[in-house]
Amino acid sequence: PIKTVQEIPELRTLIQSQRKQDASIGFVPTMGALHAGHVSLIEAAREECDFVVVSIFVNPTQFGPNEDFDSYPRLLAQDLEKCQTAGADLVWVPTTDIMYPPHFSTYVEVKTLSEILEGATRTNHFQGVTTIVTKLLLSCLPDKAFFGAKDYQQQAIIRQMCLDLNIPVEIKTCPTVRDADGLALSSRNTYLSETERESALSLSHALNLAKEKIQAGETNLSHIKTEMQRLLTTTPLVKLDYATIVDAQTLEEIETPHPKMVALVAAFVGTTRLIDNCTLN
Ligand code: PAJ
Repeated sequence: PIKTVQEIPELRTLIQSQRKQDASIGFVPTMGALHAGHVSLIEAAREECDFVVVSIFVNPTQFGPNEDFDSYPRLLAQDLEKCQTAGADLVWVPTTDIMYPPHFSTYVEVKTLSEILEGATRTNHFQGVTTIVTKLLLSCLPDKAFFGAKDYQQQAIIRQMCLDLNIPVEIKTCPTVRDADGLALSSRNTYLSETERESALSLSHALNLAKEKIQAGETNLSHIKTEMQRLLTTTPLVKLDYATIVDAQTLEEIETPHPKMVALVAAFVGTTRLIDNCTLN
């Protein structure tokens, strides 16, 4: 079975001994319930680095009081198998007490980027993400850390954070892995009933619609946004949060085409909140 470790001192000792042998370190942070999206990140790390560390930790501080922390899928045995098959060398599985001991009181916050889109309704979500990612990165001190484009705002915020705090880790963003019908893989897809899963396809359909309009030469972005929103609001079981087009760097909503823009969507399907995005050029 693949080697696992819990305590930070033991993790550091194992990584240091690899460093002494001149190995480059790749790191893939996850909350477990691993699917092919996570596996693609581990495979990318395997390609680029000599020693691959995966963390599995369902981080309580990034869940809101009415969110799914308690029901979030926990499937450690399966996850360890997938890490091994994907080519990981070490899986770090800290306890909540290791990451948040009594009297824990320091939080990392990226202003502005954390306040819009996902941050507008998920108060403190990104503060939880940036705090745990800082702790994970400082514990492993990898050369490269791998994130998914699926969580577009998350990887943008983490890039900004590493720049601002001089965290010497190269952030890699890997493409979104999708099911054959276009649904972006997510650990939360397991919450969907069969009919909800059908409705969930409206997210990727809305993004494809935006992509097609841009490719056909449409320059009126508000027309495209309206069409995306119409598609989502007319799908049964879907409750739209946002469907918008933003600048790829600042994530600010744009009205006229930019050289780099991203379409972002978020919606509840039943009680499950889903997000998706695609670059438009
Ligand atoms: P989690 O949702 O488990 O995702 C772990 C990593 O997998 C993230 O970088 C995410 O963007 C990526 N990922 C998820 N679905 C993907 C898909 N369909 N294709 C490609 N990559 C995908 O994101 C988190 O955990 C947490 O916020 C974390 C960064 C671990 C901090 O707690």
